[in-house]
Amino acid sequence: MTQNSVIQNPALAGPEMVNEMPRVTPSALNAQRLELSYEGSGTTTRALRGVDFSVGVGGPEAVAVMGPSGSGKSSLLHVLAGILRPNAGTVHWRGEDIATMKDAQRTRLRRTDFGFVFQSGQLLPELSASENVMIPLLLAKTGRPAAQRRANGMLAALGLGGMFDKRPGQLSGGQAQRVAIARALVTGPGLVFADEPTGALDRTTGASVLQLLIQQTLSRGASLVVVTHDPEVARVCSRTVYLEDGIVVDSTASQPAAHAQQQQYPQAPVQSANPAQQVPNPAQYAQHPSAHRPAVQNPMSYPAPAAGSGEVR
Ligand SMILES: Nc1ncnc2c1ncn2[C@@H]1O[C@H](COP(=O)(O)OP(=O)(O)O)[C@@H](O)[C@H]1O
Ligand SMILES: [Mg+2]
Repeated sequence: MTQNSVIQNPALAGPEMVNEMPRVTPSALNAQRLELSYEGSGTTTRALRGVDFSVGVGGPEAVAVMGPSGSGKSSLLHVLAGILRPNAGTVHWRGEDIATMKDAQRTRLRRTDFGFVFQSGQLLPELSASENVMIPLLLAKTGRPAAQRRANGMLAALGLGGMFDKRPGQLSGGQAQRVAIARALVTGPGLVFADEPTGALDRTTGASVLQLLIQQTLSRGASLVVVTHDPEVARVCSRTVYLEDGIVVDSTASQPAAHAQQQQYPQAPVQSANPAQQVPNPAQYAQHPSAHRPAVQNPMSYPAPAAGSGEVR
């Protein structure tokens, strides 16, 4: 049985589980003049030097954050998500400034409003896929039976219907990232943060995982901020913001994310019929008058969907 058949046959996926997934109220995050410094032994690193950033203003969107290593991408994500407190600036989310919120309140907000996907190694190895996805629900005081039902429904929606009892060590890299995506989405967050979520995967697996991340996030009414080195990732997002030395140096105009309209899982990313909409264009970025431009990898060309690409990799 292919994973496609699980998705296309609601009886197999458990319709009541899938229907239990909350749709979120669309929300925007608005950050202004963010400054962040790290104090070392006698040294100060200015990771963010006056960054303005917003996401979700016109409705759910997927924003890619690109830039060379050390340009402040992870720092920005951590400040936007309330993990790090900025030295200056504001981060407005649902009427409140996360930057000045008390720690306990920020921790609660991270659990209820935000989802996180990191590069790899984020699952607890001694727990099953189901149990890993249940964690944020249990932290939010959901009862165990309901948490398990929702976790399994989420896993099924991500093509992992047969993997509930597998431990991370028994999963492929792509499957583990799908579990991580399930865990990020299971509480119904309004905003999902992903830091190089496909960085440890091969290209084909990475493309399919990314497609799933974007499609599942947007279709639930949430927005996504994804840090990436890969122009392919940026290409299928709604918009790209480029960072260098802690400053936003460039950004592309908004377009529908390549997966926003797509309901079928999993397929190769859709390319816009209008070439003008196929942004960001790495070649264009390569002309940016800066010494620190990121290496542009193998421009464009997603691999064609191979036979059997419906299988979970
Ligand atoms: N915990 C830390 N302590 C000191 N310096 C840090 C720390 N984290 C990041 N930095 C520095 O801040 C800058 C931005 O880092 P980071 O946000 O991780 O960039 P990126 O994610 O784009 O690679 C870099 O110069 C990095 O060395
Ligand atoms: Mg980083």
